[in-house]
Amino acid sequence: MPTMRDSHSQDANADTSVTTKTSPVTSGAEAVDRRRQRVEDRLDRADVIASQGGRGELLQDIMARRISRRGLLRASAAVSAGAVAAVSGMDRVLQIDGLAEVPTAAAALPGGINFQPIQVAPVDSPQPTVAEGYAWAPLVRWGDPIHGNAPAFDPLIQSRERQELQVGYNNDYIGYHPLPFHDVTSTRGLLWINHEYTNGELMWADYTPGFPTREQADVELAAHGGSVLEVERLAGGELRVNRNSPYNRRITAFTPTVFSGPAAGHELLRTSRDPFGAEAVGMLNNCAGGFTPWGTVLTCEENFQGYFSYLNGLEDDDPRKAWHNRYGIEKEGSAYGWEQHYARFSVPNEPNEPFRYGWVVEIDPYDPDSIPMKRTALGRFRHEGATFGHSPSGRVVFYSGDDQRFEYMYKFVSNAAYDPLKRGMGQRLLDDGVLYVAALDDAGNGSWLPLVYGEGPLTEENGFTSQGDVLIHTRFAADLLGATKMDRPEDVQQNPVNRKVYAAMTNNNQRTDDATDGANPRGGNVSGHVIEITEQDNDAASTSFTWEIFLLCGDPSDKSTYFAGFPKELVSPIACPDNVNFDGQGNLWISTDGAPSPLDQADGLFVVPTEGPQRGRVAAFFSVVAGAECASFEFVHDHHVLVVSIQHPGEGGTVAEPIGENWPDGGIVPRPTVVQVWKTDGGRINS
Ligand code: FEO
Ligand code: CA
Ligand code: CA
Ligand code: CA
Repeated sequence: MPTMRDSHSQDANADTSVTTKTSPVTSGAEAVDRRRQRVEDRLDRADVIASQGGRGELLQDIMARRISRRGLLRASAAVSAGAVAAVSGMDRVLQIDGLAEVPTAAAALPGGINFQPIQVAPVDSPQPTVAEGYAWAPLVRWGDPIHGNAPAFDPLIQSRERQELQVGYNNDYIGYHPLPFHDVTSTRGLLWINHEYTNGELMWADYTPGFPTREQADVELAAHGGSVLEVERLAGGELRVNRNSPYNRRITAFTPTVFSGPAAGHELLRTSRDPFGAEAVGMLNNCAGGFTPWGTVLTCEENFQGYFSYLNGLEDDDPRKAWHNRYGIEKEGSAYGWEQHYARFSVPNEPNEPFRYGWVVEIDPYDPDSIPMKRTALGRFRHEGATFGHSPSGRVVFYSGDDQRFEYMYKFVSNAAYDPLKRGMGQRLLDDGVLYVAALDDAGNGSWLPLVYGEGPLTEENGFTSQGDVLIHTRFAADLLGATKMDRPEDVQQNPVNRKVYAAMTNNNQRTDDATDGANPRGGNVSGHVIEITEQDNDAASTSFTWEIFLLCGDPSDKSTYFAGFPKELVSPIACPDNVNFDGQGNLWISTDGAPSPLDQADGLFVVPTEGPQRGRVAAFFSVVAGAECASFEFVHDHHVLVVSIQHPGEGGTVAEPIGENWPDGGIVPRPTVVQVWKTDGGRINS
């Protein structure tokens, strides 16, 4: 059996032939692919019908609990010369059926890989690796001053005041918003950057985990949140931060943040310092996010439970104890230890404080004075992100995963349609709509179940007395509706080209073999998978959908892996999919978090076509450094620049005992960094 690196070498060696064979450069090749696509789509439908009819499993082994017929055909074609004849035969069937003229957007833009995949670097890599023909450079680092007159970074001089004027720690989600609004031709824009959490052990030599000094805790609070920074694309193709921009600002775990929507003012949001449940103190653990059509950022509070402590100190007959327990609030002291300096982080002292976190926060980057709004209608859970989905009705849709083992996928659908003539947060579309949770059956069908007070089991009989209750206790409501427990749902996002929705299940090592289902088909799922969802009528507001497994990640030599039927020997090893995004051709881009453990390779950024002959061909584009994850990424200026979040470099070490070379500066501490990647010939990424 080849080692991982051997198989990767095969991938690289075989690359040219695959590209040459299937590159859709001629109208004839496009026509063939278009026909094949339609045949395969028909087989997909037959597949579903057969399963529903109870005629037994179509696929025999565990990797195929629910993969598509077209994927199966493609996999067969890779290993059997006879399959070629079979495909030709299907083409004839297609012609007889007279379906050849049905146009599809996907066939018009089949996507593909236009670079030589890299060999992903080892876990202890000192520098990032990028595909040939591309360059990278740091763009924004922890501690960079956000204004021209802000203090320069000095790890030996840290304070709350300095940190509030500097870029925060552990960059994750990045959003790009052209300046002016909606001018995609502009070379200026605003970057939004999430700052998810802090690594005190990598910030100070004298830091004791769980026992920060008051000054250290204050710096950490100020290093959370997010940054707005104006960037400009220079003639050479690179981005540069404009430190004199009036848009530049920091939002931190100290910034006043207002509640809106059905749960605002709820008694469970009231605390001793906020008796009206109107305003939280900052935001915590903002992991991924999204954007709205009206140009605002949605930044999402994920692992908020880790900041609150001593749940065991609440009386057993206090219902809040069970409610907090369902969300995983720390039973004893927290890893951050902020409760030693701020009583609100100790549950017995301020029992409602945790209810004020776990929300989606809307921020207008175009208004430096805007107040962040916690949009409670989108529910309360460990939000990975909140990504926009298109509905022909004009209603706005936002998908979100709840990132914990055996948790759920959600989406919010506004009641009203977006009016493009009325830009701004005043439309309050995010305060009035329906939150749904996903249920997926083994036949490849799915439903979005509404979390609406008074409907189904969400009644007083089960403890719900208002929509605010439903939203604060989103997980309990979803439990009652019988939603499908997934393998850690991370990013869920609609492909703007083929309109399908891709959902990353990052991993779940606690799923046992006897607890698998169609949508989570592997026990001990250490490498994760990606699900492809087709909303009814391609309308993101639909309440029903079909789905199939798109990727079962891992070492391709592992029999349980699957890459949409693409030949396994030609794909890059990938594990722990986290964030997803799409280029202009509809290729799915995936960043990974945790790949080192199952694959013994660094985390990285991968591309996989979703349509056309290269569908399923995972290709590694970029990989990160020792201790880091490849957290998030965004395309900038019409896909000419790619910005990538390299989060927690050096994690696993300390200032005294670093595990790497303190990337990127080689100073006394590593620095989480957003890098920019561009094509050295000036072209678009993956052109
Ligand atoms: Fe912060 Fe779900 O990754
Ligand atoms: Ca993430
Ligand atoms: Ca995304
Ligand atoms: Ca993650």
